[in-house]
Amino acid sequence: MEIHIVQTAAIGQLGGELIARQLRSKPDSILGLATGSTPIPFYKEWISLVGKGELSFARARSFNLDEYAGLPRSHSQSYWTFMQENLLRHIDLQASATEIPNGEAADLQAECVRYDRMLESAGGIDWQLLGIGHNGHIGFNEPGPSLTAGTHVVELAEETRQANSRFFDSLDDVPRQAITVGMGSILKAREIVLVAQGEGKADIVSQALTGPVTTELPASFLQLHAKVTVVLDEAAASKLPASLLGSTRGVEQL
Ligand code: GLP
Repeated sequence: MEIHIVQTAAIGQLGGELIARQLRSKPDSILGLATGSTPIPFYKEWISLVGKGELSFARARSFNLDEYAGLPRSHSQSYWTFMQENLLRHIDLQASATEIPNGEAADLQAECVRYDRMLESAGGIDWQLLGIGHNGHIGFNEPGPSLTAGTHVVELAEETRQANSRFFDSLDDVPRQAITVGMGSILKAREIVLVAQGEGKADIVSQALTGPVTTELPASFLQLHAKVTVVLDEAAASKLPASLLGSTRGVEQL
């Protein structure tokens, strides 16, 4: 595991360097993309680099991690809308090469099967971007007595609905279910980049990276993956134990 601690304002720049390295080594990469506020600095930087002609997604494909069930695509808070507004509309990734689970599907189970088949025939994810929920979820893989390998329908944890209610008019408007890529597909990604910022994530980041590997904290399974890059700002890294901090380069100046 490679841990980078950078100033909050430098998270985007590092995100630019990481994707540029990936696309240089494999221009036709299969990218696993995420939503939430955390990836936004990455996406802003990617848009800027594409605008300057320094980065191209023209040969890449993307698979998003998750989508709310029951929200129309056109809803302002659907992850489809989020991705169009914050990334896809502004870069040269082909519209036909971007996949997001269809939360409007009449048969959600069939949609999960369809999504897994597409992922499989693409050969799986080369480079997976992840944020982390306050309860340790990744994608929408919520803590519980078990985890699911493939794409599946999930009941959202109450704390997740509450955390995400900031984007909706009221808690009642937050969907109760979502479709998420499962833990098996995430852990099969050839490289994973986990990003967290802010003091509110410090405890869960520390537990995920150093605590017991448990289904009650899905992100803890990243400890078992061979190639994880963690990007933290100082606040999100503030609870990491000294043993782990010693293996970092301190706060990096980019
Ligand atoms: C959502 C998403 C996750 C994301 C998490 C954290 O529930 N499904 O993929 O990592 O929230 O969001 P944020 O980055 O806004 O803290």
